[in-house]
Amino acid sequence: MSLLSEVLVNKKSNINPIWIMRQAGRYLPEFREIRKKNPNFIKLCLNENLSSEITLQPLKRFKLDAAIIFSDILMLPYGLNQNVEFKKNFGPLLGELNLNEISKIDEIDFVRKIYPIYKTLKLVSHNKLTKNKDIIGFVGAPWTLMVYMINQKSPKQKLKSNFFSDDFLINRLLVILEKFLKVHIKNQIESGANIIQIFDSWAGLLDEKDLPNFVYIPTLNLVNFIKSLNVPVICFPRGIKNYKNFCEIVKPDGISIDYNVDPQKIEKEINIPVQGGLDPKILLTEKDTIKKEAKKYLDIFKDHPYIFNLGHGVLPETDPKMMDYLIKIVKDY
Ligand code: CP3
Repeated sequence: MSLLSEVLVNKKSNINPIWIMRQAGRYLPEFREIRKKNPNFIKLCLNENLSSEITLQPLKRFKLDAAIIFSDILMLPYGLNQNVEFKKNFGPLLGELNLNEISKIDEIDFVRKIYPIYKTLKLVSHNKLTKNKDIIGFVGAPWTLMVYMINQKSPKQKLKSNFFSDDFLINRLLVILEKFLKVHIKNQIESGANIIQIFDSWAGLLDEKDLPNFVYIPTLNLVNFIKSLNVPVICFPRGIKNYKNFCEIVKPDGISIDYNVDPQKIEKEINIPVQGGLDPKILLTEKDTIKKEAKKYLDIFKDHPYIFNLGHGVLPETDPKMMDYLIKIVKDY
């Protein structure tokens, strides 16, 4: 069995597999080279030859244990015909959300529009570089997708004040998102993904009292669906205050922690496999600090099923040599 599955399914500790969020991305010169020639990010995600090449780039350089498919959580609203663009030095910019139009879309239209993603997964899973490695498919959680779809851009620190004003829109959108997220997850699994990660990047924007409606329940529905397909699922509810509550209610196979949580506390409180935690900014410092900080996580989770990762995506200004160094530390531990 591949290493991440050993941790997630068999609850093995002491093997410390490693992959890195945004491992295929702008810190790699070979990614920037392709990106320069392909200014349209969506088109790049829909080019299965380039997307699979980008997915494999970090595996060629580093001893990573998993590939994560090069795509984006915003390919889902794109598949639902909402306009999505990525603007340089700005981030995602979405078009107007039209509930009538979105309600008319059926599964066939949706799958056809984003079909190259599944071709990318097939190419990656059949490539010799992923032999005996895990292949991670992913989606954005309903809450985080709803934030982008309604807010039309990254919310940064907080939501616009009238975000929740249209109850009908919010409730319909949650139903639509659940339906198409299930379709997208199932297709990724059928195309070769053997683990699914759910990114809830904006879970931390919600008050405690809103978590059940917008995070726990919608995520639990997806987790149960993924479990019914016999595939392990990792959740990343970034920024929430109480990871313990989340785990007890949603019960994923693994929980990815952000860099603001105290790993020691998590280790004591949570008995499911844990992933990640290390602050991506540590990779911008020097080797001694990287070693010390990485060892901190490895020591704390010594007897706990643990997958090494960062507490959020690797920063574009990271030196690939430091990534290589970090992976060596983890592998030699
Ligand atoms: O991790 C990987 O290597 C796999 C690919 C991946 C991307 N996005 C590629 C990407 C994954 C898993 C994502 C998830 C994603 N996308 C999330 C959840 C994780 C997180 O970061 O919180 C979110 C919120 C998005 C939405 C998104 N996509 C934003 C906000 C941005 C712009 C900000 C940024 O970092 O540039 C993107 C663009 C994006 N997605 C890039 C990559 C490699 C950068 C594109 C570029 O300009 O070259």
